Amino acid sequence: MLAPLRNENLDGGVMMILPLSKRDIDPRIRHSCQKDDRIMTTDQRISTANATSNAFRSLPFMGVIRVNVAAMEVGFRMGHPDWINLGQGQPEVGELEGAPPRYNQINLQPEDHAYGAVEGVDELREAVAAHYNRLYRQGKSSQYTAANVAVAAGGRLALSRCGAALDNVRLGYFRPDYTAYEDLMTTFQRLNPVAIDLLPEDGFRIDPDALDAIVQADGLGALLISNPCNPTGMILQGEELQAWIEMGRRNNCAMLMDEFYSHFNYTDGPSSPPVSSAAYVNDVNEDEVVIFDGLTKCFRYPGWRIGWVVAPESIIQTMTAAGSFVDGGPSRPMQRAAIDILKPERADQETNALRHAFAAKQNLTLERLADMGIKVHGQPQGTFYVYASVADLPDAINAGTSFMHAGFKHQVLTVPGEYFDVNPNRERQGTSPFEQFVRFSFGPPIDKVEQGLDRLAKMIKTY
Ligand SMILES: Cc1ncc(COP(=O)(O)O)c(C=O)c1O
Repeated sequence: MLAPLRNENLDGGVMMILPLSKRDIDPRIRHSCQKDDRIMTTDQRISTANATSNAFRSLPFMGVIRVNVAAMEVGFRMGHPDWINLGQGQPEVGELEGAPPRYNQINLQPEDHAYGAVEGVDELREAVAAHYNRLYRQGKSSQYTAANVAVAAGGRLALSRCGAALDNVRLGYFRPDYTAYEDLMTTFQRLNPVAIDLLPEDGFRIDPDALDAIVQADGLGALLISNPCNPTGMILQGEELQAWIEMGRRNNCAMLMDEFYSHFNYTDGPSSPPVSSAAYVNDVNEDEVVIFDGLTKCFRYPGWRIGWVVAPESIIQTMTAAGSFVDGGPSRPMQRAAIDILKPERADQETNALRHAFAAKQNLTLERLADMGIKVHGQPQGTFYVYASVADLPDAINAGTSFMHAGFKHQVLTVPGEYFDVNPNRERQGTSPFEQFVRFSFGPPIDKVEQGLDRLAKMIKTY
């Protein structure tokens, strides 16, 4: 077998990709090989991990991860100084002006060697509840407690626990949205996914009344959405978000609110407040509002794998039961460190610094893309992405995939927009409506973002 490639997961962790050569495949199972990477085209190979056994399915890498795999084919390595990763789904993780110093020591206690609670340690659960009450529920009679919080090793695991905990339900989801939702809905077969299209000409937004009508007509029992939205950067907030939460309450539709970018709001510049549906919940144990967030994006610690769910106590119990077989609970020392990160003064200092730094990067990215003739629909307000159309560029680079491959020649990574065309079980055939979109990340430090945009501008001029 060839040496394993170390592939950094664009949205967090690290995985190993094992390229198999024809020679390496055991002849006894050769007949069952569906794909061999030496005879697959690059695009086939990046869209499908090899299945070398009848027992295992041919499983594609989650959308954005494919970009890394494709880039590695042409020399990209994580941390390689010559490459600029405008595809990355992680915020810069180094020191940031105005932010507290990066946490640099994890302490181990003798009890850390034992299993911890599946739902997380009580002290962190209390700290998360207090964080939500402080930011979003001041003056409200119904307050979150530790019983409303479960901690999981990262957002995708929290979502997976949720997928394992949901019953047969008609689950509404939006296109485009976060790529992992496709895998979630494909993996948990009890879920019955119902797509709702967000159109570029509507700025990727949907009116709450129109949504209400869809929820009723389709009999949706739950809705899943990222807000702020990865990839579009759109944010539901204020009265609009309130209308969504009320719509869920009226229709008995559980609102699964993925708020992993809750602090990346620059609607009114860097002083914009964080956004959470927690502000519009009436009774924390009655309203079926399930909030996902964590340290991954808003506190710039994706490697810590600390995510959480905030929800009615009964839902937390069900999701904990799911966690008891899915994963067994998060790391104990990392949870203790997370308590420090959520201390109010430190947390506010971090998130304010973050908004200042990222608002500047958003401005830069929007300006530079406009100069390149890359069109943004609507006015993105948050996250660290710009989702834009390359349709007006020369034919050779006017699609997300050709643009990505052209970018590789200049050592820049971007993500084709069609990867966010959530399509569980790949049931929908044909061309994606987002074929001519690209997701640009301004997650890296500003000098890198600027360099990457310079290279793309130069690249476009060569066509
Ligand atoms: C919308 C959204 N939710 C959840 C996550 C998951 O984060 P984690 O890396 O903690 O699994 C991501 C990561 O990219 C995301 O974009």
